[in-house]
Amino acid sequence: MDQTGQKRENWGSRFGFIMAAAGSAVGLGNIWRFPYLTGMNGGSAFILIYLFFVFVICLSVMIAEFTVGRNSGKAAVGAYKSKSRNWTFAGVIGVLSGFLIMGFYPVVGGWALAYIFKSFSGLLTTPEAIGDAFGAFIGNPVQPLIWMALFLVMNIFIVSRGVAKGIETAGKILMPMLFIILLLIAARGLTLEGASKGVEFLFKPDFSVVTGETFLAALGQAFFSLSLGMGCMITYGSYLNKSENLAQNAAIVTVMDTSAALLAGLAMFPAMFAFGFEPTAGPGLVFVVVPSIFAQLGALGPVLSAFFFVALVVAALTSSVSLLEVVVAYLMDERNWARKKAVYISSAIMVAMCVMASLSLGVMSGVTFLGVGAFDFFDILTDKIFLAIGGMLLAIFTGWFVDKEVLRQELTNGGTVSFALFEVWHGLIKYVIPVVIAVIAVTGIMSITQKGLMVFGLAVIAVLAVFSKKL
Ligand code: TRP
Repeated sequence: MDQTGQKRENWGSRFGFIMAAAGSAVGLGNIWRFPYLTGMNGGSAFILIYLFFVFVICLSVMIAEFTVGRNSGKAAVGAYKSKSRNWTFAGVIGVLSGFLIMGFYPVVGGWALAYIFKSFSGLLTTPEAIGDAFGAFIGNPVQPLIWMALFLVMNIFIVSRGVAKGIETAGKILMPMLFIILLLIAARGLTLEGASKGVEFLFKPDFSVVTGETFLAALGQAFFSLSLGMGCMITYGSYLNKSENLAQNAAIVTVMDTSAALLAGLAMFPAMFAFGFEPTAGPGLVFVVVPSIFAQLGALGPVLSAFFFVALVVAALTSSVSLLEVVVAYLMDERNWARKKAVYISSAIMVAMCVMASLSLGVMSGVTFLGVGAFDFFDILTDKIFLAIGGMLLAIFTGWFVDKEVLRQELTNGGTVSFALFEVWHGLIKYVIPVVIAVIAVTGIMSITQKGLMVFGLAVIAVLAVFSKKL
């Protein structure tokens, strides 16, 4: 029972929880972002660093988020606050990150939605035409907004139905479908002539291209892709049954997320090299490469292309659902709002942010703040600063401020399941992870080109640290 006298919502089943957590993790980050970041950061060396961060840092952070969430039975802010008000800010940074990510995520979700229909309407011509069409589409002042709105409506519908009926059902059906479609596309891409160059780009490391920024990009992406550093997995963990094995669930989610990203890479790069695209194409990558693959497939092309974008929308939805849920759970837990009210009001703000983000890629491209448009502003702040620092704060909190025995009891379900690596995990969380993130954050943030933005982000954290005790 919580203070409002209602029983806390719970997941309906183990499979449902894993699908929801994996659904949160697997999203645009894997299929849209991972491939283009890999392309821009030189390929396999970036992937190796990414994998190292995922399994050494992020898996432990995910275990910590689940543990803190289930132990407190509270969403992000409440979980911190229940220990000490001095820590409220760490949760608030998370809620803020949720808002910021939701300021651009539905825009890209809307593009994917539009491309389901565009698959049937003459999009599938030459690669150049496909590229031009994408550029024209995202810069259009009206069209992307309509699709973005549609995407948000679906999102709002799912979250307003609550945890088990909405979020869980969506994940259970849609996640498995996504994997099947990615496998099909990868199989097609790999059999194109000239595909082996793409495989080489993915798996033959070239460390000469690695810089401090590569590490920060890999770390930011690892947090983003696994939905960490903003209390999302704390929130999902808080709905989790006491009999679940936390470490095992975290491992399953991490492996699924990583497979989805690598699979997306395999679906994209071999085909890109076969078609002679530049891997550094940036955010337009999926929207240009995938239709180009399908353009080669004759009559079946449009159908398969539509399937792919359906899957992408699905992946994006299960993720944006989790982002919205962090904000909603905060308003429900800490402000005692009803679920529906929390959903409607927070999404109204997100709509306004998304409109600015979308327009910043077209008619409003001249309007910048601290040197970047709205889309990049939301993206860079979260990716380069808030998530990693959020993860670091969570590690410090868990390692130094939560009693070790409490953690042990929670992770082993009161001694009924074993977690052999408990000591290793605790050491990582307490000593290693805070230092590693601090080093990368400091060197990486220093080397960022948008200095004003970096200062702004750090200032926000400082202000929150001082003023958020009452939230
Ligand atoms: N992980 C999702 C993706 O890869 C995005 C996401 C959902 C997220 N929830 C999050 C990112 C929480 C950071 C924090 O697309």
